[in-house]
Amino acid sequence: MVTDSVNAPRPAGPGRSAVAGLLFGRPPMARALPFFDPERAPDAPGPLFADWLAGAFTAGVLDPQVVTLSTIGADGVPDARALVLRDVDADGGAWVFAIDADSPKGRQLAAHPVAAMTLYWPAQGRQVRVRGTVEAASREVSAAEFATRSPGARAAVLVGRQSEPLASLGEYDLAADEAGRRLELDPAVDAPTHTVYTLRAREVEFWQGDQSRRHVRLRYDRPAAAAGGDAPAGWERTLLWP
Ligand SMILES: Cc1cc2nc3c(=O)[nH]c(=O)nc-3n(C[C@H](O)[C@H](O)[C@H](O)COP(=O)(O)O)c2cc1C
Repeated sequence: MVTDSVNAPRPAGPGRSAVAGLLFGRPPMARALPFFDPERAPDAPGPLFADWLAGAFTAGVLDPQVVTLSTIGADGVPDARALVLRDVDADGGAWVFAIDADSPKGRQLAAHPVAAMTLYWPAQGRQVRVRGTVEAASREVSAAEFATRSPGARAAVLVGRQSEPLASLGEYDLAADEAGRRLELDPAVDAPTHTVYTLRAREVEFWQGDQSRRHVRLRYDRPAAAAGGDAPAGWERTLLWP
């Protein structure tokens, strides 16, 4: 077993940047972490994700519902950003999020309807990785999801223009005030480009970190043809080398 007991943080030295000095000798997950027994894992990823998510909330993980969504940019370079996971079905084949279709990520998904999602929960040293194809929901479903949001969240969506250059914070404040007024005048107002998406998982990997690097990785796969079908095929489970 390899340990890092001699690796204490050191200040930056010649040839080493200040950042490298901060990073040196700080291995992640140097703490007691939960044990994950892959032999006892369920047949499908959904119940395991629900169990891990509940455990993350109980353990006090901050914002465990925030995922990193990776997409393919128009230039072929991967792009990624944090966003809020809205739902996962019981099977673990459908991972739901809602974004503005008229944002860079929305346009990337229109051009390449595939994505990866990544979650990392530091308190437990747990990572979940999902890959698959992405489908946009109907206008009705997206409008209904929008209507469930708080007035503040709806006003933020109504501001729109996500990721466009902003001249000043004052310009944003004016647009936010205007969106708030629109909502007051018409509480049922829709945001036509607000869209619910489902990531249809082909692979879901559960990764349990271990202080001595005996990490446990379990991947659930199902054939591409079956992913998203009406009758989901069974999942295959594979234990992976760490
Ligand atoms: C914790 C956290 C949660 C976020 N949640 C969302 C979200 O639910 N929807 C969203 O559009 N952006 C969310 N963002 C902002 C995105 O990371 C991103 O900046 C924005 O969506 C623009 O991305 P794009 O230019 O790739 O379209 C969140 C950011 C953070 C840090």
